[in-house]
Amino acid sequence: MDRFVIEGGARLSGTLKVDGSKNAALPLMAASLLADEDFILRNVPDLSDIRSMKRLLAALGIEQSEPSEDCWKARVTDTDKRHAPYDMVSTMRASICVLGPMVARRQRARVSMPGGCAFGHRPVDLHLRGLEALGARIRLENGDIIAEADRLKGATVFLGGPFGSTVTGTANIMSAAVLAKGTTVIESAACEPEIVDLADLLISMGARIEGAGSPRLVIDGVEELGGADHSVMPDRIVAGTWAAAAAATNGDVILERFPWDSLLAFLDVMKQVGVRIERLDGGEPCAREATVRVTSERHLRPAVITTQPHPGFPTDLQAQLMALLCLAQGNSVITEKIYPERFMHVAELARMGGLFTRQGPTVVVQGVKNLVGAPVMASDLRASACLVIAGLAARGTTTVNRVYHLDRGYVRMEDRLTELGANIRREDDREKSKVDPSNQPAIEILASSPPTPSAKLVKSDG
Ligand code: EPU
Repeated sequence: MDRFVIEGGARLSGTLKVDGSKNAALPLMAASLLADEDFILRNVPDLSDIRSMKRLLAALGIEQSEPSEDCWKARVTDTDKRHAPYDMVSTMRASICVLGPMVARRQRARVSMPGGCAFGHRPVDLHLRGLEALGARIRLENGDIIAEADRLKGATVFLGGPFGSTVTGTANIMSAAVLAKGTTVIESAACEPEIVDLADLLISMGARIEGAGSPRLVIDGVEELGGADHSVMPDRIVAGTWAAAAAATNGDVILERFPWDSLLAFLDVMKQVGVRIERLDGGEPCAREATVRVTSERHLRPAVITTQPHPGFPTDLQAQLMALLCLAQGNSVITEKIYPERFMHVAELARMGGLFTRQGPTVVVQGVKNLVGAPVMASDLRASACLVIAGLAARGTTTVNRVYHLDRGYVRMEDRLTELGANIRREDDREKSKVDPSNQPAIEILASSPPTPSAKLVKSDG
């Protein structure tokens, strides 16, 4: 398994373009199941989760090619394939996004029930209730969800759960309702920009959807959909991660294709903290994409952050902001309202000198003068990004183990950071173990593990 070795202290500077969004691209790709014509997506990030989705769609009868860089072309060739098996779903939770399109288009879907993940129980009850409301018959068999319907029928569907609405659940129900007979109203729909991107794609294919980006979606079902040629929105979480990394290193970084309008809560917190993020493009105040310059003197002020559904502060940037707030002058308070257990990074940051008090879903972060490098273990995608930011800012050497998590959500992160002047390199810890006798325990652990390909070891949290 690979790890990153980071020599902290380098000030990030330079220019980066924000890649296409993973969480937008996954349900967009699943929408290729809905039509027979050519389906083209551009600005698709080269990530392991995207490769997992390609494998799953191949197993579901989708022929695929990559006509140019970042471009993905798909076409349905076999509609008899209706089974998303456990090994594919367990490597990527977002595989559940194929459920709605399959039951709508193929009348039957068998999708393995996703399990828990590093930050707790993540049910899919709202997805299933939504499909049932549209007339699907749902049952569980050998750990698989089986959904069947002759033709879905429009209905009113409520998608609010105890922690707000569901993002992939909204994507699933919307993607099913576009082919249902009659009108569907989704109340308490997720308002995330990735849902707007999906609605834009579906509308371009001939779907009739109103209200995307608001909690009420009205969808008039159509008989069939046509092909698509759509560009995936830039990744707001990647953009926020680069901005936090720049800030934590007293950096001066220009970010192109920065999804400004999707990050207003994040921008507000960064302003309170004392990080300057200025628009350089002189465009509309509410720009979908902008060019920004991020600068910081690292005289950071503490902040109070509560993660919330969009347009609130995103849970997927909570860990990265915690790394930054470790360096603020004073105490910050972070409350996690989407995933109350999503604090696996706290213990690792503490190994680097961070000071924390946790009570349930709230963590008080006591600012320290410096973080210090240490070996740390990444537990999920965003926790890993948090540890990289901490390592970039820390004194000394940080080793972030298990970076396969990062490969799920950041395109060649170490290369991008190196371009900005960071001192970071990827190592294969087995290679290192062979030549470095001080790593003997690692060899023993590996020797006792089964010789499984590393892809099999990856467990998704996205
Ligand atoms: N929930 C339910 N029932 C459901 C579905 C969700 O109670 O049927 C709860 C969840 O347990 C959670 C909350 O509702 O407490 C929100 O979950 P949601 O369904 O919105 O999450 P998701 O759609 O599975 C997406 C992103 C996550 C991101 C969340 C929240 C994708 C592929 N994943 O997950 O991204 O954290 O929305 O914004 O879009 C990541 O990229 O690192 C990541 C974890």
